[in-house]
Amino acid sequence: MTSIILGQGRDGSDTCIDLPELLATRLLVQGNSGSGKSHLLRRLLEQTATLVQQVMIDPEGDFVTLADHYGHLVIDVEDQSEASLRAAGERVRAHRASVVLNLEQVEAEMQLRAAGAFLNGMFEAPRAHWYPVLVVVDEAQLFAPVAGGDTSDEARRLSLGAMTNLMCRGRKRGLAGVIATQRLAKLAKNVAAEASNFLMGRTFLDIDMARAADLLGMERRAAESFRDLARGQFMALGPALSRRPKLVTIGPVTTASHATGPVLLPLEPVSAEDLRDIILEPVHEFTPRPRRESRPPPPDLLAQLDAYGAEREAEEPAPAAVVVEADPDQLWSLVAEVVAGEGSDYKPLATLYQDFQLRARIQGLSRNVLELGPFHRMLATIRAGLDRARADSEDWKQAQAIAATLPEDVQGVFLLLARTALDGETCPGDEALARAYGTHSLGRARRQLNYLEEREVIVLQETPLGRRVAIVGLGWQTV
Ligand SMILES: Nc1ncnc2c1ncn2[C@@H]1O[C@H](COP(=O)(O)OP(=O)(O)O)[C@@H](O)[C@H]1O
Ligand SMILES: [Mg+2]
Repeated sequence: MTSIILGQGRDGSDTCIDLPELLATRLLVQGNSGSGKSHLLRRLLEQTATLVQQVMIDPEGDFVTLADHYGHLVIDVEDQSEASLRAAGERVRAHRASVVLNLEQVEAEMQLRAAGAFLNGMFEAPRAHWYPVLVVVDEAQLFAPVAGGDTSDEARRLSLGAMTNLMCRGRKRGLAGVIATQRLAKLAKNVAAEASNFLMGRTFLDIDMARAADLLGMERRAAESFRDLARGQFMALGPALSRRPKLVTIGPVTTASHATGPVLLPLEPVSAEDLRDIILEPVHEFTPRPRRESRPPPPDLLAQLDAYGAEREAEEPAPAAVVVEADPDQLWSLVAEVVAGEGSDYKPLATLYQDFQLRARIQGLSRNVLELGPFHRMLATIRAGLDRARADSEDWKQAQAIAATLPEDVQGVFLLLARTALDGETCPGDEALARAYGTHSLGRARRQLNYLEEREVIVLQETPLGRRVAIVGLGWQTV
């Protein structure tokens, strides 16, 4: 049994966590602010750092210090797009890298999006990479809140979905969720419900105590004792900890918390007079200088400028960036060149768009002749195998309109299905779907079909003879 020592029991004996058991279950830590949750998580991470891969979702930038001692990779999300965080989540699993996702620098909205994208990337990693990994989320109520705060519904849904995946469906994929929260009552119920190991710290509010008692299956009155716990003391229960509720005092840690709380400094004596002068020192108000009236230039200067301009124009053509118009055929062939580029199927959209912009500039067009959204749909249209002649047809416009209502990443899959259905061909196979989705994982591609069906844009029929797809609203069908 690989156990690590979490701390000491009432009688001074070691209290351990059974690591294999923990990896097969999930752990919920709860305690009010200052009860010692982050310290506990740090103890757990330090003790297991050499034994198992770790991912720390760190809203306060507390855990970046793990990098110095244990070599964790720190990812500062402010530098990353959602797509790259998703990819990073997937790659972390392939390379079994221990990571601290530092969310300290960004606003709540971006915290949710970043954590959601990263966790979903981990969750969607191909089966070959389902190695066990400890996924620790501090302040989990931020990422799986009961009710909405200032963040958008979309961000909250993304993050809550990712947390639900982690805690409810992650086990089979090797994801061992460890979440800490200061307010159990603010944490989404389904996210807490799957935990079977608990460490309950000091708790003041009745409503949190009641929820803790429910989760632990103890009398509400017994849970009253959580009020009297000291900082660093937790009641432990669960298969990886103890069969009976057991008090544990968490042991020391090696690395320091990055976040330092307020520190009491002795007040320096200053006389009341001095203080008055310092606090009420007049401020220098900023008075903007009156602007000088701009006088029109004398007429002969204008004439000179005009003449100069005419001369210049005769010498060199106007700068290319000014030309904005491009004919649709030209755009189509530019995008087709991008599609034909090597490995383009698996490159991120942003990279392809840059490639397109570069080609456009070389042809003397403005970089913005085609916005990202329309570019993406034209790209997906070409990939779907539609010929130029039909791209502007009424039929295809309808398919594009439906595609535009879908998340960006599944639009390609949808348009491929639409094209084959429109032409009455057989339904594309898993590999073609995977290419349209930009993944090498066939399972992931197949899941997009289910997703499209859930969104009610396609009807899916799987028979032993093969798969058939109909496009809702348009009535096209594959054979
Ligand atoms: N078991 C412990 N031993 C020593 N110091 C602790 C212990 N638990 C917490 N602390 C200290 O108490 C303070 C608050 O703990 P922290 O883990 O940040 O609380 P929380 O995350 O629950 O708000 C920190 O300064 C921390 O170092
Ligand atoms: Mg904390």
